[in-house]
Amino acid sequence: MEFNTKVIHGGQEHDPSTGAVMPPIYQTSTYAQASPGDHKGYEYSRTANPTRTALEKSLASIENGNYGLAFGSGLASIDAVIKLLNPGDEVVSTNDLYGGTYRLFTKIYENYGIKFHFIGMEESDNISNYVNSKTKMIWVETPTNPMLNIIDIGAVAKISKKNNCLLVVDNTFATPYLQRPLELGADIVMHSATKYLGGHSDVVMGALIVNEKELAEKLYFIQNASGAICGPMDSFLVLRGIKTLHLRMQRHCENGKAVANYLTKHTKIDKVYWPGFENHPNHEIAKRQMNDFGGMLSFTIKGNSYEKAIKILENLKIFTLAESLGGVESLSGHPASMTHASIPKEEREKTGVVDSLIRLSVGVESEKDLINDLETALLKI
Ligand SMILES: Cc1ncc(COP(=O)(O)O)c(C=O)c1O
Repeated sequence: MEFNTKVIHGGQEHDPSTGAVMPPIYQTSTYAQASPGDHKGYEYSRTANPTRTALEKSLASIENGNYGLAFGSGLASIDAVIKLLNPGDEVVSTNDLYGGTYRLFTKIYENYGIKFHFIGMEESDNISNYVNSKTKMIWVETPTNPMLNIIDIGAVAKISKKNNCLLVVDNTFATPYLQRPLELGADIVMHSATKYLGGHSDVVMGALIVNEKELAEKLYFIQNASGAICGPMDSFLVLRGIKTLHLRMQRHCENGKAVANYLTKHTKIDKVYWPGFENHPNHEIAKRQMNDFGGMLSFTIKGNSYEKAIKILENLKIFTLAESLGGVESLSGHPASMTHASIPKEEREKTGVVDSLIRLSVGVESEKDLINDLETALLKI
């Protein structure tokens, strides 16, 4: 099946008991057994639930993987991945990454004896300098959040294979519509399904997709043993979201391009970060590993004024000032004080998260209305 068919049918079957076309929301914690151990494949909903199973099969299908796992949040899925490691192990991670991921790594897992190296990965050769015999994992986010840097997944996969460590790719920004990391050599794909997969800002969820059976079994064990699962209602919502992923992403990409082109010509704007620009440092890699450039972009204001950035955000009417991204509605954010507030100022500024940086998640509304909204807000500074 091609991607646009997989989002609707991949891994799905009509409900065996009723023929329901959409899987019912199996709102149950437990399942009757005829005799101990004699059941219909389900025992307890932490271990497995039919609505979650339908979603997990869909996730595996759209990422072109063999196994999917759904969790109560993106961070819960990252937490499960890090539990594959032991004290003394090391991780080489992208330095420009979601603040909550950085917080989980540094404030929780460093206390358990896992060492993280946060480095720029735009030049993949740089990674080898930080890999040693203790390195067990490479953590990549691409495009990065919020600087929209692009990391060459295929090149990093070669380094991870050579050094016998796992390559994990946070594919939240791109979604499998734009890039499929397993096909490029990654071992684990991770999603905050809260974002584009859910797509309607009505659910918080995480997902992992892998190819290898042994790795999948370890992760299923952690999922059940630690218990950070999502409920059946949320599973249903994300499954429904995925069915229109291709349509939404196409429009996100079109609107993202229009907004990026508008901002780059505006006299009050300093830099616009969007991988579709030919002068983006890794534009060629983006063109190779992605099908389009997505609806996420960031920009700074001339003079780098914190106050002016806040004023723009206060005056936007269609772009809602809110945490999160990837929903049908356009959102704006101020990384320095919101998503990346948990990263120290010196650390965030090194990666470009300066005081006037504004991040936009461009939604699927009318392009004209979005540009008018930005025009009006920019007139006020
Ligand atoms: C790229 C990225 N990864 C992971 C997460 C964490 O996911 P969640 O908020 O669903 O726990 C987020 C959330 O914003 C994100 O943007």
